Amino acid sequence: MDQPRIDAILSRYEGSSADLIPVLQDIQDQYNYLPKDELKVVAERLHVPMTQIYSVATFFKMFSLIPKGKHQIKVCLGTTCHLRGGVKIVESLGHRLGVEPGYTTKDMKFTLETVGCLGSCAQAPVMMIDDKYFGRAGVDKVPKIIKQFK
Ligand code: FES
Repeated sequence: MDQPRIDAILSRYEGSSADLIPVLQDIQDQYNYLPKDELKVVAERLHVPMTQIYSVATFFKMFSLIPKGKHQIKVCLGTTCHLRGGVKIVESLGHRLGVEPGYTTKDMKFTLETVGCLGSCAQAPVMMIDDKYFGRAGVDKVPKIIKQFK
């Protein structure tokens, strides 16, 4: 466990149970997931039971209890994107990166996920890498898009 790192995160808060979600967000941002040992420290310092922490961590999709890659790839499989080739994009990414949706590459660079509508249906099919949107992301564009993050 990285004690100085978790201490630095917790030092930004007053230490009440109301700080739980922002603390978890900071941990997620820094580690790309919520490590168990760090969560035990959070439970102790914020006086929140582990069951409550796991409840919050599993309720919000922004949190992950398993390590994620440096870059999060989200491919939209909402209705419009599905009809316009979203599945083919997922297959192409999976083939290129050697990973199934829901998993992370062995080098921890990419996590591939499928999501519901990203709210940009006019640009379908849509995918995101981290905070960057890629509209009309046909299979032919996948290599170029991925290259930007390698
Ligand atoms: S269905 Fe993909 S952005 Fe709406």
